[in-house]
Amino acid sequence: MALRTIVTYPHPVLRQEAEPITVFDQELKTLVEDMAETMYQAPGVGLAANQVGVARQVVVVDRSTAESERTYITLVNPEISDGEGSVTDEEGCLSVIECYAKVERFRKIHVTARDVEGNPLEFDAEDRYARIIQHEVDHLRGTLFIDRLSSLKRALYKKKLKRILQERE
Ligand code: NI
Repeated sequence: MALRTIVTYPHPVLRQEAEPITVFDQELKTLVEDMAETMYQAPGVGLAANQVGVARQVVVVDRSTAESERTYITLVNPEISDGEGSVTDEEGCLSVIECYAKVERFRKIHVTARDVEGNPLEFDAEDRYARIIQHEVDHLRGTLFIDRLSSLKRALYKKKLKRILQERE
């Protein structure tokens, strides 16, 4: 396992439509293990492959509980359907530095995907788990949570980011 570098907005790979996975091989397993390690080190609760510079349809989502630390689910080629209800809650993103904002999401979703071996997965997700999956699947479509904010909030963030990046130079 190895840590990978998390790319940050406005890196163009975050805007790429991720390619579906067709081969379930060791390279994919290594990518997933690296992504999980990178997510926990950050620390974060979800990570999409675009965020480590790989525009392929893979996400990892934390499922740790008090009893089982560092447990995560891998979703390959995930699809969301049957969104129900709506909840507005705060989100952040490892690829969008110093930005937290309220985003509206479905409260409940149906998810179909493959696991890292290529086996089909199908389940319902609710609340926080559903929110993370929606956020990560957005990444695979080249969408960031800031795209879901008002244009005013987005403009303010872009201004703030410009200042932060200038200060870092
Ligand atoms: Ni994110």
